[in-house]
Amino acid sequence: MKRDFLTIVDFNAEELKQTINYAIELKRARNAGQLDDALKGLTVGCIFHKASLRTRISFETGIHELGGYSLYITKDEIDLGKRETIEDAARVLSRYLGMIMIRTFSHADVEKLAEHASVPVINGLTDYTHPCQVMGDLMTVQEKFGTVEGIKVAYLGDGNNLANSWLNASRRIKMDLTIGTSPETLPDMNLLKTAQDEGLSQVRIVHDPVEAVKGAQVVYTDVWASMGQKDQAEARANLLRNFQINEKLLENADPDHLVLHCLPAERGREITDAVMDGPHSGVFDQAENRLHIQKAIMARLIKWSR
Ligand code: CP
Ligand code: NVA
Repeated sequence: MKRDFLTIVDFNAEELKQTINYAIELKRARNAGQLDDALKGLTVGCIFHKASLRTRISFETGIHELGGYSLYITKDEIDLGKRETIEDAARVLSRYLGMIMIRTFSHADVEKLAEHASVPVINGLTDYTHPCQVMGDLMTVQEKFGTVEGIKVAYLGDGNNLANSWLNASRRIKMDLTIGTSPETLPDMNLLKTAQDEGLSQVRIVHDPVEAVKGAQVVYTDVWASMGQKDQAEARANLLRNFQINEKLLENADPDHLVLHCLPAERGREITDAVMDGPHSGVFDQAENRLHIQKAIMARLIKWSR
């Protein structure tokens, strides 16, 4: 049966750890000039309804490095769900493509695409989640601390698709996750409740930034206004101002902490230059790891779908 990757919980804990270890192996092999051909003979359609630097370039590069061919498909070509139904588009695309990656607004649209496609579908970001990003983040955490388990993570800022993806990560990997945000910018509360009820990890929301970062080994943030919300940028900045990651706030974190940001960053807003360019910043390793983890995700989906 074909497998999809729409949220982190589509992989069980064992599959998730295997995928991270495989990505670390692919990274080592790439640095040694060795290539894998897991996508040989396959074309991957990459559908983008939102802007992208990292996701587009890392997917296209990764597909080519695995011996496949990538197609960049925008709204102008297929106008998914408008020119024809998502169901019909899914059936037709599956007759040509070996895999589909999609970045769009509605998570429900991606679920519908996956339900009706007979090839694996990967979520490259929706308004609800960004699972490939948090997989790359977990890989970066493993490289720094030697494990993804038992880490104390503080997510500061908007309760957006990244916060939701961290909640999903906490349902597969045992961690201590604190989300520091305002009462008006909460993550998906059903997801929070599910994560808390499942009880694998310690998960909580606090509204005090100092309390949020206390003793944290990983301090994470993202923009305060996501794609589709840029007209609310000032209002959201007023709500989240206290959650900026700066050197003073980080005095409360573990002395050996790692700072992560999925990028693109609005420097001076959710994160200062001094932190982003400082000794604890892992943001560019994190960006690089998108390439390796997505190669591992694609190779695993092909293998597990046979
Ligand atoms: N982090 C991330 O997904 O970046 P892009 O929006 O540039 O793809
Ligand atoms: N939360 C951001 C992430 C960008 C990679 C957005 O959705 O725009």
